[in-house]
Amino acid sequence: MRNVEITGWGKCMPPNVLSNHDLEQLVDTSDDWITTRTGIKERRISHVEASELAAVAGLRALAAAGKTVDDVDLLMVATCSGDSIIPSTASVVQKRMETWNAAAMDLNAACSGFVYGLVVGTNMIRGGTYQTVLLVGTEKLHHLLDFTDRSTCILFGDGAGAVVLEGSDESAGVLASDLGTDGSAGHVLEVPVDGTMGDRGHPDPAMCGISMEGQEIFRRAVTKMSESSLIALDKAGLRLDDVDLLIPHQANSRIIDATARRLGLDGAKVYVNIQSYGNTSAATVPVALTEALEDGRISPGDIVLFAAFGGGLTWGSLVYKWGSRVTPLGKSDAELPPPDRNTLELLRPNFDFFGLPERMA
Ligand code: ACO
Repeated sequence: MRNVEITGWGKCMPPNVLSNHDLEQLVDTSDDWITTRTGIKERRISHVEASELAAVAGLRALAAAGKTVDDVDLLMVATCSGDSIIPSTASVVQKRMETWNAAAMDLNAACSGFVYGLVVGTNMIRGGTYQTVLLVGTEKLHHLLDFTDRSTCILFGDGAGAVVLEGSDESAGVLASDLGTDGSAGHVLEVPVDGTMGDRGHPDPAMCGISMEGQEIFRRAVTKMSESSLIALDKAGLRLDDVDLLIPHQANSRIIDATARRLGLDGAKVYVNIQSYGNTSAATVPVALTEALEDGRISPGDIVLFAAFGGGLTWGSLVYKWGSRVTPLGKSDAELPPPDRNTLELLRPNFDFFGLPERMA
């Protein structure tokens, strides 16, 4: 079977920051509560659409792989807060990047979307259908945040990360994976009024934002991320001791710690950057991967374990043997336009729709 390698990586984080101290001015919370319960110190609020974050991350990943936009034959965008349903966000990203040779599609498995995308992309290449896959995880989650609900508005942020997948003859790349879904528990994390089920003009704006049973998600995320990791490792013929770095979905540092504890994995082998960005759903894993490489946390030959859990409820894990190259081949000069509003101004539409946060009322 042909090996499939990650040959390029990149991220695009919008510059506007919403810190815990900023949130203290809006809702009845504290930096201490958010830090100890979630590990988050700040998150980014995007002034552009998810497609624009995706395009910049995608161009950076392509440059890192030494590829051009013309080389991409499949563009997949993992997102649950994309620009529109029709056209897909992937179509919009194609237009922005001008990847005219690529088929383009969205993939929605919420926070597990990027790991799902890695599995789909790998098998597309292995099956011989495509040669060069650009997979982007992108989110503009702040659009769904109700700042009258302090239990959810503190958790999420915006951003994008991307990888290039290519067939390879090296003895490296994707070794094994495991994916799963429990649709019977979809209500545990949802946007209640959305899609064709949504009541147009619903009288309660709160129903149009993210709603979740926090402790239930917590419990299930720890169980499923650890179970799935062990299944994928077993398929790869590896043991936990073989893992050099776990890159988990960044939902909550306590979920990450509890997963590592349950697996019996040393905390030093776990990559965490949730303090800087919060939960960016499908973007957390590619952003964390990009930063792990930038930080020198991955060496040639390392076994990297990816694990994610999210809305749906979905989960997935993937075991990956890193190849010989841990540095980018090139650098893109793609940049976002500078923000035209400050963070609070960017949140104004949320306040107008969902209601003023308690401390502004
Ligand atoms: N600031 C201060 N107090 C708060 C806040 C806040 N922002 N939010 C809730 N509280 C209060 C509650 O009102 C409650 O007060 P009470 O005891 O007077 O009733 C108290 O804190 C404890 O609330 P819990 O919900 O029990 O707090 P918990 O320890 O479970 O932490 C949290 C809540 C952080 C949401 C946690 O359950 C969690 O992280 N769950 C996972 C959810 C998640 O990560 N979702 C992301 C999407 S899914 C995914 O990506 C995997």
